[in-house]
Amino acid sequence: TQGLSLGKAACILTGASRGFGRSLALLLAPRLETGSVLIPVARSQGGLAELEAELRSSFPSLKVHSVQADLSTEDGLQLVLRAVQDKLPGAADLERLLVINNAGSLGDISKSFLDCPSPAEVNSYFAFNVTSALCHHILHPEGLPGAPWLVQDCRPFKSWTLYCTGKASRDMMFQVLALENPGVRVLSYAPGHLDTEMQQLARTKSADPEMREQFLRMKQSGQLLDCSVSAQKLVTLLLQDTFASGAHIDFYEL
Ligand SMILES: NC(=O)c1ccc[n+]([C@@H]2O[C@H](COP(=O)([O-])OP(=O)(O)OC[C@H]3O[C@@H](n4cnc5c(N)ncnc54)[C@H](OP(=O)(O)O)[C@@H]3O)[C@@H](O)[C@H]2O)c1
Repeated sequence: TQGLSLGKAACILTGASRGFGRSLALLLAPRLETGSVLIPVARSQGGLAELEAELRSSFPSLKVHSVQADLSTEDGLQLVLRAVQDKLPGAADLERLLVINNAGSLGDISKSFLDCPSPAEVNSYFAFNVTSALCHHILHPEGLPGAPWLVQDCRPFKSWTLYCTGKASRDMMFQVLALENPGVRVLSYAPGHLDTEMQQLARTKSADPEMREQFLRMKQSGQLLDCSVSAQKLVTLLLQDTFASGAHIDFYEL
């Protein structure tokens, strides 16, 4: 993939302030041609500012417009929408729109299935982890070919009811998107076990002791992936562009 590029693109990347999203932003940037626009989204101003400074100094031809927004709220979604409308000038001039739904949360993993969370808790979890990804279709500027939507991991884990249900919903949602829109390239990417804050929560807060132990063992034996290793695989998939639209691809399968 050396020398391949994603063309002149607009890229909306949620959850870019840390973890996988941050690494992905730094690996996507050199593959975006001059005039491309990157819109990193997260809640933390500090994380976004740091990323923006790093991108500006390493890739001066890339336009970067961070949006500080809480995607669990409608106001947050509106902020992203407004930024897209304001910052994507001359959409016809862009070859591709990349929407990367990377932001996600574990929810309360300290309870097992039968310790039901309250309806308010469930709704709030889904507002962020499902609704916000579903509502990104409003971001499609007219006439722009769409490209992938991610990031998923779609397996059952004990005590992770909300997380697993949310990821399965997103997977199906994106399969429908792919079926309805042959012109949109859709990919669900499972990035593998990453050494991030989310993993730290997984090994300390999971209700199930076997899960805690398994994740702790992975950390201690150096089995957790560096985010940039997995992000590089994803960038390669995007550059090669040979996946079946709607596919679910796991880091460990590659
Ligand atoms: N880590 C793993 O082992 C693993 C495995 C499989 C799949 N994944 C998936 O990969 C993705 C990234 O995981 P990660 O490990 O990098 O997670 P992470 O370290 O917890 O980072 C999550 C990102 O999402 C943002 N975020 C959280 N709540 C938000 C909200 N309400 N509104 C807007 N942004 C919000 C966070 O930024 P702010 O806090 O600044 O808002 C942060 O940038 C997630 O979808 C996760 O489910 C991770």
